[in-house]
Amino acid sequence: MPTTQLPNTASLRPDFIWGVSTSSFQIEGATQEDGRGLSVWDVHCQTGEIKNHDTGDVACDHYHRYREDVGLMKTLGVQAYRFSIAWPRVLPSGSGSANEAGLSFYDRLIDELLAAGIEPWLCLYHWDLPQALEDRGGWLNRESATWFAGYASLIAARFGDRVKRFATLNEPSMFSLFSRSLGTRDGSSEDKLHRMIHHVNLAHGAAVDVLRANVIGASIGCIHNRQPCRPSSASEADAAAAARLDVYWNEAFPEPQYRGDYPPSMRAAIEPHMRPGDLARICRPLDWFGLNHYSPVYVKARADSLLGYDFGDKPANVALTPIGWPIEPDAFSRTLQDVHARYGLPIYVLENGYGDSGQPDQTGAVIDPGRIEFLKAYISAMNEAASKGVDVRGYFVWSLLDNFEWDSGYSIRFGLTYVDYASLQRTPKSSFGWYAGLIKAMQR
Ligand code: FCB
Repeated sequence: MPTTQLPNTASLRPDFIWGVSTSSFQIEGATQEDGRGLSVWDVHCQTGEIKNHDTGDVACDHYHRYREDVGLMKTLGVQAYRFSIAWPRVLPSGSGSANEAGLSFYDRLIDELLAAGIEPWLCLYHWDLPQALEDRGGWLNRESATWFAGYASLIAARFGDRVKRFATLNEPSMFSLFSRSLGTRDGSSEDKLHRMIHHVNLAHGAAVDVLRANVIGASIGCIHNRQPCRPSSASEADAAAAARLDVYWNEAFPEPQYRGDYPPSMRAAIEPHMRPGDLARICRPLDWFGLNHYSPVYVKARADSLLGYDFGDKPANVALTPIGWPIEPDAFSRTLQDVHARYGLPIYVLENGYGDSGQPDQTGAVIDPGRIEFLKAYISAMNEAASKGVDVRGYFVWSLLDNFEWDSGYSIRFGLTYVDYASLQRTPKSSFGWYAGLIKAMQR
């Protein structure tokens, strides 16, 4: 491959880690097998609200095809793989007795990764809360921190001999702001949101302590979705709505976790849910900042909605991906600089990627130049941030495979690998070959 097609990586560290990310509910399938309990997402899929009435029942069938998927990673040449454990697969009721069959699936996966020379990065929670815990109030129940610590201790005891990289939560701001547990957006939902934010933060802190105490050499962080929230017009109301959302989206979790307090503008709202000592319970020493970044968010004011905002028009001059997400690599570089300035820890980019609905051509090949251009531009932007002193140490593409994209079901594809959901056959896209070429070039 001509090197002109590769991004500028001159400022990245020699030991920079290249990886791919996935999550349990989005790829595993086998939702009713080997004693797995229900998750909130299984139940949500039954409401019929997911595009095309898709469910996670089969997904990519990774539960049965994990060997083939690790083989794909080996071909890619990635040094690391970020995945999540399905909490209800290992603790069907969320707490109490563990499910040996579920645990042994992850044993097999981890062993396969290690045998392939790929470092497992284990995320405890990527949104598939056990429904049994939701029935007990879920994250609105302060007990959730204790449940989560219990789950973390099971994972630490079982996998801590082989896994050293742990993330507590994936994108707490996303699963809180868009949680169905807040109910209809009535007058009480903002109070519920504040309660949930605080409990999720407590759960994070409790899990960090458990991992630190039980895994020798653990390297721990939390994964935050960080995208600048910008007003979609010049109006003052839109500017105020964007500024308010920015605090919830980008600061409500990292500020207490990494710097010990809530942003001043939301502190009074959190106060009723706090007990003495809580901030110290949340702010535990961490090793790195996990960053998921896609694109800026454009916001308009909307009085009758949670936090008074809605998504607004994107600027006419901004290029969009096929699923309508802005392509703004400069915002990625600035976000990296901002995270570095604020938190000072090593940064791992644990998600970045491009969604489309690309299909195979007549020859069966999946040619996706848009994804290659996107990744190239974003990796160059990351390199630019590194050239300005940002301590960025790894980059993980979302995602290894096309998968279940939440409310969009299987209609949106983020994979480097195409998945034919009828046959479950995997076909590496042209971006897969491109990413493999980049990783190879970096190792020379
Ligand atoms: C992130 C999620 C991930 C995936 C990508 C496209 O917000 O963490 O599961 O859906 O977006």
